Amino acid sequence: MKKYKIGLFGFGCVGQGLHEALSDNPQVAAEIVKICVKNLDKERPLSKDKFVFDPKSILEDEDIDLIVELIDDAKLAFEIVSDALRQRKPVISANKKMVAENLDKLIALQQEYDTPILYEGAVCGSIPIIKTLTDYYSLENVLEIKGIFNGSTNYILTKVIEENKSYKEALEAAQVNGFAETDPTLDVEGYDAKYKLSIVIEHAFGVHVHPDNIFNQGIQDITKSDITFAKERGLKIKLLAKAVKYNNYFSAYVAPHFVSKESPLYHVENEYNAVLVQGAFADDQVLVGKGAGKLPTGLAVLSDVNAIANNYRYSQRQVSSMAIQSTVEEVYVSFSPEQPVNFNLFTNVSEKYIGQNSGYVIGEINTDSLQELLTNADTNVIFTSGAKEEIEIHRLTYSYEIG
Ligand SMILES: NC(=O)c1ccc[n+]([C@@H]2O[C@H](COP(=O)([O-])OP(=O)(O)OC[C@H]3O[C@@H](n4cnc5c(N)ncnc54)[C@H](OP(=O)(O)O)[C@@H]3O)[C@@H](O)[C@H]2O)c1
Repeated sequence: MKKYKIGLFGFGCVGQGLHEALSDNPQVAAEIVKICVKNLDKERPLSKDKFVFDPKSILEDEDIDLIVELIDDAKLAFEIVSDALRQRKPVISANKKMVAENLDKLIALQQEYDTPILYEGAVCGSIPIIKTLTDYYSLENVLEIKGIFNGSTNYILTKVIEENKSYKEALEAAQVNGFAETDPTLDVEGYDAKYKLSIVIEHAFGVHVHPDNIFNQGIQDITKSDITFAKERGLKIKLLAKAVKYNNYFSAYVAPHFVSKESPLYHVENEYNAVLVQGAFADDQVLVGKGAGKLPTGLAVLSDVNAIANNYRYSQRQVSSMAIQSTVEEVYVSFSPEQPVNFNLFTNVSEKYIGQNSGYVIGEINTDSLQELLTNADTNVIFTSGAKEEIEIHRLTYSYEIG
């Protein structure tokens, strides 16, 4: 079998994880021959002569026949990846932002130059969701896909809800443990999860939806009273990414959800991710695993290297004409009593409470109106679809709370 010569871009967390995983698997027909990094003066665990600074010294090296892109700069990553595909060099990337924002262009380049790009490591770390959807589910009518797609936010929510840590303490612990970036915005505001959701939608439904068209609300606005509300009802709050197929359209969003004990997602804690796929034939299946980190992601990238060495490429799902649409969802919205939200934006209100320090409303609202409502300061939303029955039972039991 031919041994691929890898030109690696990036030798940070994932790049080093790939190196370790490959060293442990000499049967994989590939070796890393050059590594491009930003700072050549950094101490590295490998011989200095492997490292280069100029991307061209990899891209123009005719001996290199596989490009693995693991840098943290999405714009440059797209330039590197497109250049490589144009030279008919197969590509592997773990960069969800780059892949999600350019998926249509990447598919076109892949077809035009008849050269594969794989990106298993970009979505939920060690969980093999892309290959599972592409291969195993290729004959399945996927109806819904949802899950915990971001390990940092799940870690923070676990610490805040289970261990009563403050949001700041939990975020700092996530950063110390390497689960959250120094700038955590992409994680905590739900962007990272929606990049992954956009990629998953492509492989589950055969539709490309740009991440800008997916609603996202993160965990940054969750208040103490939201957590009290959840705890009193035996619920947890999880940041879920979710896409649901209807007849000729689908909905997709990332938002905090109340999750009840009956859901398999209730038990997924800390940096773990989970993906729940509902199909017309197979019904529900859940995949749970480490969503990030050096070795789990390094192994996902290595599995793509091995796949390329075995001539694997993603088969395209039949392209669907379905479009994303806003939908009416039942949500809990909390607000400051000094600045109540516009209740008229709800199509149906089932519960309303305004106390001295906090207020909330539970009702049905169109996701476009929800976006408008969230422009109010001190307003947060939690979707109730993972725990609707529990909230209804509570409403019967504690009816005095209804305002
Ligand atoms: N960390 C995870 O658990 C995880 C999980 C899934 C996906 N990913 C994705 O994998 C990618 C890499 O993440 P990471 O955590 O490994 O990042 P990281 O630890 O910050 O490492 C980034 C690497 O990219 C190099 N780099 C940055 N800009 C560059 C440039 N202009 N030219 C050449 N090299 C450049 C850096 O070089 P220096 O070493 O010289 O600074 C460094 O080696 C990202 O797209 C990320 O979203 C990460």
